[in-house]
Amino acid sequence: MKKRIFSGVAPSGNLHIGNYLGAIKNWVKLQEEYDSIFCVVDMHAITMPRDPEELRKKTIEIAKIYLAAGIDPEKCAIFIQSHIAEHAELMWILNTIAKTGELSRMTQFKDKAELSTGDGGSFENVPLGIFNYPILMVADILLYNTDLVPVGEDQLQHIEITRTLANRFNKRFGEDTFVIPKSFITREGQRIMGLDNPMKKMSKSAKSEYNYIALSDDAETVRRKIKKAVTDSGSEIVYCEDKPALKNLINIYSLLGNKNPKEVEKLFIGKGYSDFKSDLSEVIINFLKPFQEKMNELSDEKVLGILRSGAEKVRPLARKKLIEVKKKIGFML
Ligand code: TYM
Repeated sequence: MKKRIFSGVAPSGNLHIGNYLGAIKNWVKLQEEYDSIFCVVDMHAITMPRDPEELRKKTIEIAKIYLAAGIDPEKCAIFIQSHIAEHAELMWILNTIAKTGELSRMTQFKDKAELSTGDGGSFENVPLGIFNYPILMVADILLYNTDLVPVGEDQLQHIEITRTLANRFNKRFGEDTFVIPKSFITREGQRIMGLDNPMKKMSKSAKSEYNYIALSDDAETVRRKIKKAVTDSGSEIVYCEDKPALKNLINIYSLLGNKNPKEVEKLFIGKGYSDFKSDLSEVIINFLKPFQEKMNELSDEKVLGILRSGAEKVRPLARKKLIEVKKKIGFML
């Protein structure tokens, strides 16, 4: 029996090359080896206010991104989270075994609380959905007996709480209920940093567009953003810890240009930032152009069809697991 992977992206903000390099790129490789389920997590997206029409558009766009990246709907299931009601049902059950202390220690909660309240994140004003957002993610993962969760580094804490709650439930109601999942991350792609601040991750919800390269950026936008990207002091192109901005740019170059960081360094011996940046822009554009062309070829109707049939593939798995859980906790069936 193949092992299973599960992962997802929230249809919110502008998907960027960090999301691609941290998560989606790995999924494409892993789908060959694993039984793969990829979700568009619209229920997670509504933890922040969203325009309904925009949410629908983004949901389809994320699925197009999966497909353009090379996710094969013949091999994997791609579906929309809200199409499978079992996610919300299992979340409720897991809410009853999670602790408020565990949730308030989530670093992403602190970041999102600040973003959502506009008053520095005072607890009283934080929407409850932002607080227990990780429990929905736990439900997503546990519903499908997931072995491996390929994500970027910012999600590791959420995988940890998944393991904690799965173990807690198993201890109380039966050791064989939930598979205890592991995270899957890659060294270079796990944390792509902001172009305007190499100490913070590239983020979909960044205030300035100079923080990220969106997967939808055109060539001119890429050149403008890379020109403006912060660099470190000095003029040599070297890959090292004490030049975090350059290290991040070399990482992007190496991951999108299929070279290792040492090979990238070698290409620029005797050259400066301006040569490096203009080559980096071209590497990014060469990646984005065919990607965007593939996205444009996909019609919304076709993509929705793929998402609906993906939901039908996973529904029996979700149902089976939820029935098992309900029986164990004492619900009448
Ligand atoms: P989301 O939508 O914020 O991000 C999607 C994926 O992109 C990764 N990522 C990054 N990787 C490298 N560098 C970055 N700068 C960077 N920014 C984001 C994220 O780690 C993630 O893998 N809660 C999740 C979605 C989710 C999920 C799940 C994931 C819901 N349920 C179940 C896995 C399994 C989220 O908001 O990701």
